Amino acid sequence: MSKEMNSAEVTRGRLTTRTMAMPADTNPAGDIFGGWVLSQMDIAAGICAGQRAQCRVVTVSLDGMSFIRPVKVGDILGVYTDILKVGRSSMDINVECWVRRGRIGHREKVTEAVFKFVAIDEDGNPTPVPNLEELPAYAVDEHKS
Ligand SMILES: CC(C)(COP(=O)(O)OP(=O)(O)OC[C@H]1O[C@@H](n2cnc3c(N)ncnc32)[C@H](O)[C@@H]1OP(=O)(O)O)[C@@H](O)C(=O)NCCC(=O)NCCS
Repeated sequence: MSKEMNSAEVTRGRLTTRTMAMPADTNPAGDIFGGWVLSQMDIAAGICAGQRAQCRVVTVSLDGMSFIRPVKVGDILGVYTDILKVGRSSMDINVECWVRRGRIGHREKVTEAVFKFVAIDEDGNPTPVPNLEELPAYAVDEHKS
């Protein structure tokens, strides 16, 4: 079985963003800053949460952040998101980053974490996340898997 087929190495959730790690995002050692990767995860989780809630959302907490392997310049970073739980106004989103080394190499998981987002109204107060049945068809499609 190839490494990509190993169940421990299977992506979880939906590919939400893809971007390339650039030299401007490196630390003095030449690897990509953890903070840059974290911000990519926050962006992807925010897209996922906003589509589920169909309104403004904010990050409220972050659990289990794990930097598993370094990210290098030229890697393609793919961020996968999966909604684990929906509360009244909150959503727990599993976020994984995978890279394709040097743009074309095999895929490796580099980070994972669970982000909690809260749906907010125009005044910045928590607002209920709608039920799936209340969502427009295109938004339900985004959350079928
Ligand atoms: C998110 C925010 C609106 C929540 O306000 P609040 O007064 O705590 O609201 P509530 O107590 O009603 O909690 C709302 C939900 O958030 C959850 N929550 C609030 N604070 C939390 C925390 N620190 N950790 C985990 N969950 C939290 C609650 O459990 C609740 O979930 P539920 O509705 O699904 O039951 C407020 O904390 C906020 O604006 N935080 C800043 C967010 C932000 O700016 N993020 C970007 C950082 S740069």
